[in-house]
Amino acid sequence: MKSLLFQLILTSFVLLNSDNNVNAGVTSDFIRKEYPSEDIPLDNEVFAVPTGHNAPQQVHMTQGDYEGKAVIISWVTADEPEASKVQYGTSKGKSEFIAEGKTTNYTLYKYKSGYIHHVLVDNLEYDTKYYYKIGTGHSAREFWFQTPPKIGPDVPYKFGIIGDLGQTYNSLSTLEHYMESGAETVLFVGDLAYADRYEYNDVGIRWDSWGRFVERSTAYQPWIWSAGNHEIEYFPYMDEVVPFKSYLERYPTPHLACKSSSPMWYAVRRASAHIIVLSSYSPFVKYTPQWEWLSEELKRVDREKTPWLIILMHIPIYNSNDAHFMEGESMRAVFEEWFVHHKVDVVFAGHVHAYERSFRISNIRYNVSDGDRYPVPDKSAPVYITVGDGGNQEGLAGSFRDPQPEYSAFREASYGHSTLEIRNRTHALYHWNRNDDGKKVPTDSFVLHNQYWSSSPRRRKLKKIHSSSALGWIASY
Ligand SMILES: *[C@@H]1O[C@H](CO)[C@@H](O)[C@H](O)[C@H]1NC(C)=O
Ligand SMILES: *[C@@H]1O[C@H](CO)[C@@H](O)[C@H](O)[C@H]1NC(C)=O
Ligand SMILES: *[C@@H]1O[C@H](CO)[C@@H](O)[C@H](O)[C@H]1NC(C)=O
Ligand SMILES: [Fe+2]
Repeated sequence: MKSLLFQLILTSFVLLNSDNNVNAGVTSDFIRKEYPSEDIPLDNEVFAVPTGHNAPQQVHMTQGDYEGKAVIISWVTADEPEASKVQYGTSKGKSEFIAEGKTTNYTLYKYKSGYIHHVLVDNLEYDTKYYYKIGTGHSAREFWFQTPPKIGPDVPYKFGIIGDLGQTYNSLSTLEHYMESGAETVLFVGDLAYADRYEYNDVGIRWDSWGRFVERSTAYQPWIWSAGNHEIEYFPYMDEVVPFKSYLERYPTPHLACKSSSPMWYAVRRASAHIIVLSSYSPFVKYTPQWEWLSEELKRVDREKTPWLIILMHIPIYNSNDAHFMEGESMRAVFEEWFVHHKVDVVFAGHVHAYERSFRISNIRYNVSDGDRYPVPDKSAPVYITVGDGGNQEGLAGSFRDPQPEYSAFREASYGHSTLEIRNRTHALYHWNRNDDGKKVPTDSFVLHNQYWSSSPRRRKLKKIHSSSALGWIASY
C-alpha cells in the first residue's frame, strides 16, 4: 500500500515535470496572504507558563549520542534550582529509571535566567517509546518520545526540516503544519528565537517565550540544532560580547560523542542517515578546529551503514535571492570540493527567508588563476536546499535575482517547512510544504536518489528495470 502510494506520487511528479526543460529553473509566482511579521504578544496562550510552583517549562530534547540510543532532555524551572532529574520508563506513569544531570543559570545584561536543567538519558533501547517525568509533586510533568530504529542501510525514517522560525503567527503556522507531517525528528537550520531583535532584558525573556512556544514539539522528539546569525548575540551596547551565550546555555548538542571540540559543529547518526552540522559563524578555514574535525568526520561516514549523508548549515552556499546573495561563498570555497568528493546527498540551509532548491551543480574547477567561474552540472554534487522560511518577524525575502540563474531549480517566497522521508538505501521522498493561508500545501516534491548507492552496480540494475525516459530523468537528479 505504502509503495503503491509512493509510485503514484512519483508518477504524478513525472507528469508534472515531463514537459519542462530539465535545466530551466522555476520561479513560483504564488503570492500568499501572510500574517503580519510581528511576534505573538507575550500574554498569548502559546507562551503559557505551566501552572504549579517551579513547574518545568521550555522542555526540549536533542539526540544525546552518536548512534541514537540517548537523548539530552533540557528544561527550565523559574523559582528554584531543584535537582535535574528525569524519571523514565517504557510504560506510562511507571518510572523504572532515573537519570541525573546538571543545573546551570546565566545572566544577560540584568536578565537572570531560570535554572536550566540538562540531563543525558542514555543506554536506551532502539525503536522504543519512553515516558518521562520531570519536576516534583503537583508541578511534575510527563512527556514521551520514541527512540529511532537501530542504524542500518534500509531503515526508513522521516525527518522534518525547519529554519529561521521565530515566534510570529507565521511561525506558529509552520510549527503546526510540521507537527501534522508525522516526521520523527527535526533538522533545524539555525535562527531559533529571534530574541536578539529585542534589547536589554527582553532578549532573555524572548528566549524563554520561544522555549515554551516550541515545547509542543521539542518535548516529544529531538530537534537537531544548528546555530544561525541570530544566535551570535554580540551586544557591545550592553557589554555582552561572548558569542552564542544564550544558545549555548540553553541548547546543548552531543558534540563530544563525535570527537568535536565545540557544541557548534558535530554529527549524529540516526536510522539510515549520517547528519553533519556545521557552524556558518565559527571559524572554518583550513587548519581551524571545525575544518580539522570535518575532514575526520567525513572519513567516519560509512555509507554501507548510513547511506544518507546530510549536511546542515545556516548560510546557503547556492542562493539566488537578493537577500544574503553570495554570503555562502566563503564556506563554498573551503568545503564544496569535499561535499562533491564525498557525494553528499543534500545540504540544508536557512538564513534566506524564502524557499529555494538547486540542481546538482558544482563550482570546484574554478581557482583564482583560471577563468572557469560558473557552476556546472555535476552528478556527484549535493542538492542544495534553502528552508529559511519558518516565518520569523523579519518577514519574507521576496526579491529573487532575475533572470533565475541556471543553478536554481525552484524558488518561492513563502513560508513553510520540508520533510525528507527516507524509504531505503536508494530512495527518499522529499517535500516542501508551503503555509498557504493556514493550510499545508505540498509544493515542491521530488524523489531523492542516494548519491552513494545510485552509482553502485545494484543501482544501475534498478535503473534498467524502470527504463522509461521520465524515470531516467528523475534517477539522474
Ligand atoms: C545562579 O543561581 C544562584 C542561586 O540562585 C545565584 O546565587 C547565582 O548568582 C546565579 N548565577 C548567575 C550567573 O546568575
Ligand atoms: C587552476 O586552474 C587551472 C585551469 O583549470 C589548472 O591548470 C591549475 O592546475 C589550477 N591550479 C590549482 C592550484 O588548482
Ligand atoms: C526502495 O524504495 C523504493 C520506493 O519505495 C522502491 O521502488 C525500491 O524498489 C526500493 N529499493 C530497494 C533496494 O529496496
Ligand atoms: Fe539568518
